[in-house]
Amino acid sequence: MRVLLILIAATCVLALIAVRVPEGTAASDEVASVAAFADVAKVLNNPRCMNCHTTVNWPTVGDDQRRHPFNVMRGTDDRGASGLRCATCHQDKNQDAANIPGAKDWHMASITMGWTGLSPGALCRALLDPKKNGGRSGDKVIEHMRADPLVLWAWTPGGKRTPPTTAHKDFIAAADKWIKTGAHCPAP
Ligand code: HEC
Ligand code: HEC
Repeated sequence: MRVLLILIAATCVLALIAVRVPEGTAASDEVASVAAFADVAKVLNNPRCMNCHTTVNWPTVGDDQRRHPFNVMRGTDDRGASGLRCATCHQDKNQDAANIPGAKDWHMASITMGWTGLSPGALCRALLDPKKNGGRSGDKVIEHMRADPLVLWAWTPGGKRTPPTTAHKDFIAAADKWIKTGAHCPAP
């Protein structure tokens, strides 16, 4: 009787494992993937990135992510209201004398690419969702993070702004690992 119970219990455990692990992926890959995403999320949640990736109708500034001064709004094309365009003040590079950050084609991410207040799991799923991320596959998301001037700006932000503590190459390595191990997302 006891042996039978143990067998039934063991079968249940095995069945549970089979449900949790997607076909063709080792459980260790899932753990590694979720861990790599934690390193990615640490950068994404940095104020340098979050200030452009908001879910409200304006960009934010500073480490406390306060509302952008001068009543700047995202406008219909994420480049500012018609009377107050981002490019009126922001140029292709930082203007340190005026404390205005800059990089090529400075504008904010669309509201579907907004990350304010997302849990790590929700952030992870949003990045992978082509309906939210600008139609990108996992590889394209990485390519963007590797080379986009707005992303790279965060590591040379000018003024007294602090860059993410993770080096850009380590950030890309973590993102690569996250995708290659199956792009698993943490819960919740
Ligand atoms: C000056 C504003 C700005 C800053 C700063 C910025 N981004 Fe973006 N980001 C954008 C814009 C605009 C897009 C949309 C680009 C496109 O679709 O061509 C975007 C798109 C993205 C995307 C692809 C879409 C998505 O949501 O998956 C990722 C990933 C991303 N940014 C990561 C970052 C990271 C990481 C940082 C900080 C290290 C950062 N961004 C900083 C403006 C910004
Ligand atoms: C009237 C000039 C002006 C306009 C227009 C303007 N900005 Fe700014 N922006 C500034 C100044 C000045 C700062 C520096 C403020 C500070 O650091 O306290 C700044 C800072 C920022 C930062 C902060 C970076 C950080 O991490 O602290 C972001 C992001 C930003 N602007 C995005 C935008 C976007 C997107 C637009 C268009 C929708 C825009 N700005 C329009 C003048 C402007």
